[in-house]
Amino acid sequence: MLVLGIETSCDETGIALVDGKKVLSNIVASSVELHKAFGGVVPEVATRHHVEYQLFVLDKALKKARRSVKDIELVSVTRGPGLVGALLIGITLAKAISFALKIPLLGVNHLVAHIYANLLNEKRPPVYPFIGLIISGGHTSLYYVRDVTDFRLLGETSDDAIGESYDKVSKMLGFGYPGGPLIEKSAKGGDPFAIDFPVAELQGTHNFSFSGVKTAVLYYIKKKKEAGKRLTSKDIKNISASFQQSVNGIVIKKTLACCKEKKVSRVVVGGGVSANQNLRNRLIAASRVEGINVFFPEMKFCLDNGAMVAILGEELYKKGIRSNLSLTAEPNLVI
Ligand code: KG4
Ligand code: ZN
Repeated sequence: MLVLGIETSCDETGIALVDGKKVLSNIVASSVELHKAFGGVVPEVATRHHVEYQLFVLDKALKKARRSVKDIELVSVTRGPGLVGALLIGITLAKAISFALKIPLLGVNHLVAHIYANLLNEKRPPVYPFIGLIISGGHTSLYYVRDVTDFRLLGETSDDAIGESYDKVSKMLGFGYPGGPLIEKSAKGGDPFAIDFPVAELQGTHNFSFSGVKTAVLYYIKKKKEAGKRLTSKDIKNISASFQQSVNGIVIKKTLACCKEKKVSRVVVGGGVSANQNLRNRLIAASRVEGINVFFPEMKFCLDNGAMVAILGEELYKKGIRSNLSLTAEPNLVI
């Protein structure tokens, strides 16, 4: 079944064509450069970018897949969570295609799509049940997953998301946006044990809190400056490595605790922070000791993209789920 996937929840205009789990094309036009001057995503700028680029992206996706618009059999689109204006642009395109071609339409949850990016790995798709770990710019959540329609929330962040904390620390260090890849790069030359940045444990729960560690980094930098010291490049690398060590550590610990509690031996990770190599290596190593298998999306499917939206749309379609033309944006959609 040829599925068109449309993703416009934030700053990436992503459109993909997926046929029987095979990704024929996956085109992403990012507006990230336009937001850099503001230190974060400006919703109106992101929305205008989707308006301007989405037809070009669609055209490119069709050409790359060597398919015509008439070949599309199902259209799947992100309905939330995300920026309301940005979501509406993709949803409007999806509805127009569904209406014109008389093909089924599916509005999907962006967070679930991040997890289902793992199904695009033909060699090693995960099976149920598993612990779903979502680590992105807006979310940090753990789920017990028994089916595409059966996600049970085990824990979530009570304040900042992990990606958001990477972005904020990046800003403090004078790096750009998005901060995750820049912190990761800077951390490579630093000592992860140079500074102790404690992360709230929230004992007895599977919940997270990242606002404290962010403040700890802020005070560390402030103290240095007040003492009349300049941050050296070694300091910056050590701060990056130590911060990364702490936040990734708590995610690994809580994920394994969920596996233990639910007696589940599989973890499926999704969201932008799943691109972090330090997290990948450490979670795989810690899981191996416990006999747990970890699944990460391929690097090209870690960030927002249309392929993950297409594959999730097909999974839901197979379950008999459909949307109709009353589909609308749900900026605060939860799982
Ligand atoms: O999933 P995503 O593309 O968008 C949302 O749905 O939020 O995630 C974006 C987040 C940003 O906060 C970015 O800094 C973070 O993912 N990120 C990373 C890395 N690449 C992206 N964080 C840590 N290490 C990375 N390599
Ligand atoms: Zn995302």
